[in-house]
Amino acid sequence: MSKLFEPYDMNGTVLANRIVMAPMTRSRAVTGIPDEHTALYYEQRATAGLIISEGVPVSEEGRGYLFTPGIYTDEQAEGWKRVTDAVHVQGGKIFAQLWHVGRLSHVSIQPDEAAPVSSVAQIAEKSMVYAWVEPGTAGPIQASRPRALRVEEIHRITADFVRAARRAMEAGFDGVELHGANGYLFEQFLNGALNSRDDEYGGSIANRRRFLMDTLDAVAHEIGSSRVAVRLSPFGRLYDMKPFADEAETWLSLAEALNSKDLAYVHLSDQLTIGAESIPDGFAARFRQAYQGTLIAAGGFDSVTAEAALDNGDLDLTAFGRPFISNPDLVERMRQNWPIVEPHRESFYGANKSLAKGYTDYPFYQEAQPS
Ligand SMILES: Cc1cc2nc3c(=O)[nH]c(=O)nc-3n(C[C@H](O)[C@H](O)[C@H](O)COP(=O)(O)O)c2cc1C
Repeated sequence: MSKLFEPYDMNGTVLANRIVMAPMTRSRAVTGIPDEHTALYYEQRATAGLIISEGVPVSEEGRGYLFTPGIYTDEQAEGWKRVTDAVHVQGGKIFAQLWHVGRLSHVSIQPDEAAPVSSVAQIAEKSMVYAWVEPGTAGPIQASRPRALRVEEIHRITADFVRAARRAMEAGFDGVELHGANGYLFEQFLNGALNSRDDEYGGSIANRRRFLMDTLDAVAHEIGSSRVAVRLSPFGRLYDMKPFADEAETWLSLAEALNSKDLAYVHLSDQLTIGAESIPDGFAARFRQAYQGTLIAAGGFDSVTAEAALDNGDLDLTAFGRPFISNPDLVERMRQNWPIVEPHRESFYGANKSLAKGYTDYPFYQEAQPS
């Protein structure tokens, strides 16, 4: 049997197979609260060994896109409980991806229309978010100029993550993944070209990663380290993240520092299929050597390349993004060698016409066959 379909013990959470659904924002939560459509969408995909939820804002300040379901109110947590129950009934596991966008936001969706926050007051050039283009009209819009966070606010955001993680556990999630990838708040501190702070959160590698490490520790203290994971995008270029001098060392020493944390997993996001560049050749192997725990990666896999990555020992688990949008039964399709359907890009995000369209209406393979 292919390794893809073998169970895996992920630091105490036992997965039915090694196929992970990557986190994907779908912007279908019109009220900001997960509802029956959200529950059905995840339930349909619960044969994945592990589902990582779409990015879940930890606060109103942490939102950069309208219609993304947060976890900072009781109503949102109750909505998520419907989702986790539906996944568990099917025998699946689900982690929440906890998200703060930092500077990738717009004043129209920030509390009191204030500037978004970041490590420094530098705008993300040519970076679109999804907010109010004018009152009542949602649409893509250039991210606003941020302001730099004060130290006590950095501590407050760590507390926001801790509270969100607690709520996530109460809502039935099996764990949480901190979104440290793809140009969002944690990466705005990690990136040495952007983060020019002159306090204990900028400058040296240890300083640039302090916010992420402290937040991982605080969340682990709250819910247990084996329930906590992190997503990273080494050499990430999405959203105006620029190259910097000690880039390889930043990511490799971070990998080493994560060893002692006893996390559920570390998850690498390769950006080639989402509009940026791939992790440089050979670097993922170096990361693998530096980090001894469970390693997941996403970005352009199919069943053949995923199986090879598991067989070679490059990865422990393989994550699929877009294929899970259009193939709710992706695991069974891969197991049976049934055709994999391409997703429609125009329905990736948003709730324009019908919520179900391009969301919960992709058929299972067997249902689609003439009887
Ligand atoms: C519609 C869409 C939404 C996404 N939203 C998120 C997100 O909320 N958080 C995140 O870390 N990555 C997000 N990603 C990236 C995916 O998790 C994944 O890394 C990427 O799609 C590459 O995998 P693939 O080639 O299998 O699609 C998103 C990707 C897509 C296509």
